Amino acid sequence: MADRIYYPKSALAEAAHCKSMEQYKQMHEKSIKNPEEFWGEIAKQFYWETPTSDNKFFSYNFNLNEGDIFIKWMEGASTNISFNLLDKNVKCGNGDKIAFYWEGNDPDDYSRLTYRKLLEETCKFANVLKSKGVEKGDRVAIYMPMILELPIAMLACTRIGAVHSVVFAGYSSDSLAERMLDSKAKVLITTDGVWRGPKLLLLKTICDEAMAKVKVNNHEVESCIVVSHLRRLANPHGGGSTATDGGNIKNGINSNGNGANEPNIPWDDDRDCWWHEEMEDAEPSCYPVWISAEDPLFILYTSGSTGKPKGVLHTTAGYLIYAATTFKYVFDYKPNDVFWCTADIGWITGHTYVVYGPLANCATSVLFEGTPFHPQNDRYWSVIDKYKVSQFYTAPTAIRSLMKFGDSLVKKYDLTTLRVLGSVGEPINSEAWLWFYNLVGHGKCSIADTFWQTETGGHVITPLPGATPMKPGSATFPFFGVLPELLDEDGKIIEGEGEGYLVFRQPWPGMMRTLYANHERFQTTYFDRFHGYYCTGDGARRDADGYLWITGRIDDMLNVSGHLMSTAEVESVLTEHPAVAEAAVVSKPHPVKGQCLYCFITPNEGRKFEKQLEDELKKKVREKIGPFAQPDVIHHAPGLPKTRSGKIMRRILRKIAIGDRNVGDTSTLADDSIVDTLFQLRPQV
Ligand code: WT7
Repeated sequence: MADRIYYPKSALAEAAHCKSMEQYKQMHEKSIKNPEEFWGEIAKQFYWETPTSDNKFFSYNFNLNEGDIFIKWMEGASTNISFNLLDKNVKCGNGDKIAFYWEGNDPDDYSRLTYRKLLEETCKFANVLKSKGVEKGDRVAIYMPMILELPIAMLACTRIGAVHSVVFAGYSSDSLAERMLDSKAKVLITTDGVWRGPKLLLLKTICDEAMAKVKVNNHEVESCIVVSHLRRLANPHGGGSTATDGGNIKNGINSNGNGANEPNIPWDDDRDCWWHEEMEDAEPSCYPVWISAEDPLFILYTSGSTGKPKGVLHTTAGYLIYAATTFKYVFDYKPNDVFWCTADIGWITGHTYVVYGPLANCATSVLFEGTPFHPQNDRYWSVIDKYKVSQFYTAPTAIRSLMKFGDSLVKKYDLTTLRVLGSVGEPINSEAWLWFYNLVGHGKCSIADTFWQTETGGHVITPLPGATPMKPGSATFPFFGVLPELLDEDGKIIEGEGEGYLVFRQPWPGMMRTLYANHERFQTTYFDRFHGYYCTGDGARRDADGYLWITGRIDDMLNVSGHLMSTAEVESVLTEHPAVAEAAVVSKPHPVKGQCLYCFITPNEGRKFEKQLEDELKKKVREKIGPFAQPDVIHHAPGLPKTRSGKIMRRILRKIAIGDRNVGDTSTLADDSIVDTLFQLRPQV
C-alpha cells in the first residue's frame, strides 16, 4: 500500500494552478535558469513604491571561499507589506471579504474579521506603537495566544517598519527573556492570559518574570501592551464596544470589559497599558512607511545545536513573494476557498501560512485558538465542517494522536469540502499518511507533505496538489527556485539514487538572510560544512524515480512533536541541577510525538538517583524551556560511554534508549563495561 503511487484526482488537476508534471518541470526549470524573469513576473502582482534598480533583481554569494555570504532580491525596490496585504485587497473590492474566522478555545467563542476591519485595526495599532516611541528598525516582542490581535500586532509592525519577534506563548519566562535580550526588544505585546484546553495560562505573569530577567541583564523593555483577553471571555457583553464585523458573534475583538486592573494580573503603571484603552483614541489611518526590499521584516528564534537560540532574520520583498507563491501553488488556493493551518503563529508555519501567505493572496482562513482535544477529541473535524474548510494543513504528530481515537469521530462530520491536505514539521509515516488520505481526505484530496524550515521561510520540497503523483512519506520534489543536491561526507554530489546531506545550491527569494546580529554564526552554521551550498542539517534519500525522502536531522537536534530542540539546550538545563554531574540527551522514537527525549543522568558523588530527582529534572526542563520539552525518560547513568578523548558516543546511547543490544563497535570507548551497566539500569517504560 505504502509504496503505491497516488495520482492527483483529475477534477482537482484540471482546475489546479499547476496541472501536470510537465507544467511543473517547465516552471521549475525557468525558475532556476531565469530567476529574474520568473520572480519578476510574480512581483508584478504587488505594489512597489520604487522599482528594483537596474540589474539588481537577484545577487548572492553562497561560497565562503569567495567572501561573505549574502542574498539579495529586488535591491533598490521599496514597498510595504501591510499595504500589499490589506490596502491593496480593500482597494480591489475585497474590503468585505473575511480575512480570518476566529475560533476560540471554547466552541462558543468565535468571531470574524474582514479585510477592511483588519486594515483599520492594523493602522490603529500602528499608531499606538508609534505613540510608544517605536520606529523603523526597532524590535517588538510578541508573546500571544492565537487571537486576532496577534496578526494585527504583526501587521502593525510592518506598517511602520518595526521588526517583530514573535515568541511562542508556550515558552517559559527564561526562553522569552533570552530572546528579548538577544533582539533588544523595545516593546512587548501580550495578553492577560489564555485558556489552552481546560488549562488557564497567565501570560502576563510570565512576561513580568521575563521582563525582570531582561532588566537584570541591563536591558529594559520600555512598554508592555496587554490585551484583556480573559476578561472579555468572562464578560463578553460588559463594557466595551461590540463585535467586529457583524454576524453571529459572541466575543468580537473589541468586546472587552472596561479595562480596570484584573485581580492577579501583575501591573507596573509606568510600563504596562491595556490594548483596548490605547486603541480607543487611536487614529484609524496610518500612512505606510516604505521599506527597502532587503530591510528586516521579522526575527524568529529557532533552536541551535549549541543550545543558544538562533534569531533567524527574514527580509521584506523576497519573503513576501515567496510566501505568496508557495501558498498559492502548494495549497492550490482559489478565491472562494477557506484555508486552515493549525500551526501556532509562534512558529514559522504560522508566520508564513496563517498570516503572510494567505493575506498576500486575499484568502479567508481560520485562526484557531484551541487544541485538537478540547472540548472533545473531534474538535478539528468539527471546525472543518463548521467553516467548510477546503485546505487543511497540520502536523504528523497531531494526525497520529487523533488516529488513536478511531474513525468514528471523523466520520461524524461532513469533510467533503476538503480538497488539499498538508503535513509539516517532521517526516510523516505511511500509516498516518494513509489514514489522513483515506479517512480525512475521503480518498480524493491531494496531500502536500511539505519539507521546510524556519530558515527557508516557506516550503522548499513539496508536492503540488494538481501535478505531483504522491508517495506516502516522500516530500517529493523542489518548489520553484529551489535546487537541492545530496552530498556525501566529502561534499561530492550524489547523482541518481542515494542518500546524503540535503543542501541547496542557490537562494530562493524567501530564505533567511542572516542570524540577527550574528552573521558569523549564520555563515558557520549553514555555509561552512560544504562550501558553495546552504546546508539544511537534514539527511535525505533520492529513490529510483527521483523522489526525495527526508530522513531526519543529522546534527544533534531533536524533533519532538514537530518542535525542534537541541540536545545541548536540554543538557545544559539538566546539569544546572545541583545533584547532576553530567547529562546526555538523545532522541527515542515515540508513537505519537515522533521523537521523545531520553536523558542519561550521572548524579554527583554522594547523591542518590531516586524518583524525586527524576521528577525535579522533568519539572526543571518544563520550566526552563517549555512544557513541550518535557523528557519522557530519565535514565540513571553512573558513567557515560566516552571515547578516550572524552567525546560522548551518542550512537551507543540511542541504542540503549531503544533497548537494542546491537551497539556496534565499542573499541574506541575508554571503558566499554559502562555499556552493560547502562543496559542493566534501563528503566522499565
Ligand atoms: C526541521 C525544521 C517549517 C516547518 C516547521 C518546522 C523537520 C519539517 C518536514 C517534513 C520531514 C520535516 C526537518 C527540518 N521537517 N518538515 N515535511 N518532512 N522533516 O520548522 O522548527 O525550523 O524545523 O523540521 O528536520 O530541518 P523548524
